[in-house]
Amino acid sequence: MDFRTLNKLAEVYGNIFSLRVGSEKMIVVSGYKAVKEALITQIDSFVERPIVPLFHKVYEGIGLAASNGYVWRTHRKFAGFHLRMFGEGKKSLEHNIQQETVYLCDALKAENGPFNPMTILTGAVSNTVACLVFGQRFEYHDEYYQRILRLDNECIKLMGSPRAQLYNVCPRLLEYLPGPHQTFFSNYKIIKDFLRGEISKHKEDWDSSNPRDFIDNYLSEMEKKKSDPEAGFNIEGLVISCLDMIEAGTETTATTLRWGLLFMIKYPEIQKKVQEEIDRAIGQSRQPCLADRVIMPYTDAVIHEVQRLGDVVPLGLPKKSAKDTTLGGYFIPKGTAVLTNLSLVMHDPNEWETPDTFNPGHFLDENGQFRKREAFLPFSAGKRACLGEQLARQVIFLFFTSLLQQFTVSKCPGEEPSLEGEIWFTYAPAPYRLCVSTR
Ligand code: HEM
Repeated sequence: MDFRTLNKLAEVYGNIFSLRVGSEKMIVVSGYKAVKEALITQIDSFVERPIVPLFHKVYEGIGLAASNGYVWRTHRKFAGFHLRMFGEGKKSLEHNIQQETVYLCDALKAENGPFNPMTILTGAVSNTVACLVFGQRFEYHDEYYQRILRLDNECIKLMGSPRAQLYNVCPRLLEYLPGPHQTFFSNYKIIKDFLRGEISKHKEDWDSSNPRDFIDNYLSEMEKKKSDPEAGFNIEGLVISCLDMIEAGTETTATTLRWGLLFMIKYPEIQKKVQEEIDRAIGQSRQPCLADRVIMPYTDAVIHEVQRLGDVVPLGLPKKSAKDTTLGGYFIPKGTAVLTNLSLVMHDPNEWETPDTFNPGHFLDENGQFRKREAFLPFSAGKRACLGEQLARQVIFLFFTSLLQQFTVSKCPGEEPSLEGEIWFTYAPAPYRLCVSTR
């Protein structure tokens, strides 16, 4: 069920209501107060993932995002450590992202006339994740890798299609029947085979004392955890963990940037103010760096507003109650599926002055300084919150500022792109074209 339908149901039935999906009951939690109670006040109540047949066939309940219990805890700890070591705080990741912005800007310069930025942005963002996972980037015209990204994109679109979701209602019946779920499964088979190939290549020249990336570190962890098979560190766990990082990291971040550019062509006066701040804080003679963020409150506010209104993961990922509990006065038995409607947190009229309008002022105080908002939850909250939040924020900031430092983006003559998005698994802008001019 898509989030807009759930938003309408919340208007009628309130911030906590239940639905029946096939034979299963599911609770939908909406609005900041109720979601905060579920994810933060009751931090241990909704930490598990339910079995969703369409996903389960691909993710097998292992790896990072779909696992539970000990496998999830050990994998999350391990991957979080890797992201921190190679990412947060360490110069190397910032440097990789900055390098990628050079390729990205070159690719944009090579465009003559109107174009859809989707392929280039997806390629550029996926490289920031590829550097972490595979220790390398791929050329934007690398046919093989681009095909993997296209297949992945198709899957994310299919996840939101009611016909593919039918598989969740009667998986046994549909298992042998044609339909979009079969495309979904065959795409993932190709993607997983690609990952197995990358892992085999790594194994050939793997040196545990000199880890190059996530795969190398995971191979070492497999050795260390040999006596602890319950932790699930094995080749299949590695395949799915790589898939998790690529899947969770690429399309979400690229879609956020597509929303960002779309808002900028729709609101040129806001784009101009961002560019003025870039010129003041950074100038034209050097690349943006992460340290610039604190001296660029307006740009930071614009990026937050892009994420708030872009609503990229409107329903988060599904969860399951880990124990009997009550929420907002309702009893919820252990094992009940729960959806947190993040969209209705970031449009909550009790939290936002103008919930449905693009308004960077939501994130600025009266002195024009950046102000945090508690109801800003695009990465969700609590123990299952997005593992890649820091990486995503770094990529979005550096890509967005580098692009607007070098280019002005505008609507193509005679075209009026829509702000109405499309529902995939994520919420994405409808395909649009833009024009770029060098500044
Ligand atoms: C703008 C970009 C992104 C957005 C909006 C986003 C949002 C989210 C959301 C809403 C969840 C679900 C949290 C929950 O269940 O409560 C999630 C989970 C996750 N995200 Fe992200 N994400 C982004 C980028 C990334 C990146 C770059 C990575 C890593 C490379 C990543 C890795 C993950 C993982 C591994 C999970 C599962 C965590 C778990 O189950 O413990 N995400 N993300």
